[in-house]
Amino acid sequence: MRDIRPITDPSRPKVYIETYGCQMNVNDSEVILSILQDAGYALTEDMDEANVILANTCSIRDNAEQRIWGRIDQFKLQKRKRDNVVIGIVGCMAERLKDKLLEAVDIVAGPDSYRTLPDLLAAVRPDRPQINVLLSHEETYAEISPVRMDRNGVSAFISIMRGCNNVCSYCVVPYTRGAERSRDPYTIVREAQELFENGYKEVTLLGQNVDSYYWKDKENADRNVNFAQLLEMVAKISPEMRVRFSTSHPKDISDEVIYTMAMYENICKHIHLPVQSGSSIMLEKMRRKYDREWYLERVRKIRSVIPDCGITTDVIAGFCGETEQDHTDTLTLMEEVVFDSAFMFAYSERPGTLASRKYPDDIPYELKTQRLNEIIALQGRMSLKSNEKDVGKRMKVLVEGPSKKNPDELCGRASSNKMCVFPSRGEKAGDYCEVEVVSVTSATLLCKRIND
Ligand code: SAH
Ligand code: SF4
Ligand code: F3S
Repeated sequence: MRDIRPITDPSRPKVYIETYGCQMNVNDSEVILSILQDAGYALTEDMDEANVILANTCSIRDNAEQRIWGRIDQFKLQKRKRDNVVIGIVGCMAERLKDKLLEAVDIVAGPDSYRTLPDLLAAVRPDRPQINVLLSHEETYAEISPVRMDRNGVSAFISIMRGCNNVCSYCVVPYTRGAERSRDPYTIVREAQELFENGYKEVTLLGQNVDSYYWKDKENADRNVNFAQLLEMVAKISPEMRVRFSTSHPKDISDEVIYTMAMYENICKHIHLPVQSGSSIMLEKMRRKYDREWYLERVRKIRSVIPDCGITTDVIAGFCGETEQDHTDTLTLMEEVVFDSAFMFAYSERPGTLASRKYPDDIPYELKTQRLNEIIALQGRMSLKSNEKDVGKRMKVLVEGPSKKNPDELCGRASSNKMCVFPSRGEKAGDYCEVEVVSVTSATLLCKRIND
């Protein structure tokens, strides 16, 4: 069996990787490590001993980039302390800023150029920084087996597609990740199978819009694969291995996907369905291609087929021209749906996007923050309400490890993705436990063991 954990050979040159941004970047760092290991490098978790320091970066909001500029200053201190340290910025910020980063670092590599990292590293000299920010229509790193850097060996990410073909007006991703392309499903299944053989119990299939996954078989159109079919192929590997996925797009999530989820116990009953706004006027301006009613209908459909399905979301506060009424529409939608949890953001204008060219970023900082705080406070109440409905219910939990607060307790996630805490009977990460919810907070289900 191939080893999917990092090589720790001390004689190899060492690479240190920091990862920012979304789950896709977590997986991309694992692809990068796989490529670099094949070229003779080994991973280190200690920046002080690294020959190569990489930051896999995110551009989604301005504060994400500001944080990385701060880190670049830290990396540069290493160069002052030691000779021959190479600093590289890879990922979305590399793609967005391109040669503007070359003044600060030695290597700049965009998301589709990771196969060339060994060459870039071989060519780099103090006076000769290297850059590759070409985007590709084909690259999916399909046959590269990521080297897993997670700590517990239970749960892993698998990228099923790259890029994005939507043009949500606020979003930088289509510019940093390029056009959408789907990965060969057989390489996806092989990767999931390999993870299962290595003891993993959960895979999360990743894409910016998983519902538009579509693999066209070159020889035989009957062998084309859509997302629902891919889900089924992965679910069939073993009932012992859970399948999750992210992100679903409200305009594209199909009934077929919802029914496929219902058919397989090991496809987790959780959908991350970013709404962004509850106002149809804002949604139109955001170019999300659905309105409030469409979104609410999708939620009703999900709940009619899978009554206990976890639904989580993303919300943006203070998009261009957002009125009090638009903001109220977001609040009322959140009250109507009662999301289990949400990622909530203040709108951050991204250079080059449609919104930055067309609409003034006209909601003052204080008002944006005030609206965001109202949204966060409401979501806190909704999370509690959603969790309270679970009291008395039984759940099957995949153990992640000891709970942070009490070593005699375990924590892990229910199918709905809610975090559960319960007394340990000596199980370890990767075991399944049956529990019953006794009480809740807005963040956690406090459970007892069944038959306690
Ligand atoms: N592909 C996913 C989201 C990817 S980005 C989807 O379509 O839902 C993750 C989240 O970041 C988005 O859902 C959105 O809520 C937020 N986001 C994206 N661009 C943003 C911006 N310019 N300002 C604030 N939040 C943003
Ligand atoms: Fe960005 Fe929209 Fe694509 Fe999501 S679907 S990555 S929000 S453009
Ligand atoms: Fe950030 Fe790029 Fe992901 S901008 S959210 S790292 S796709």
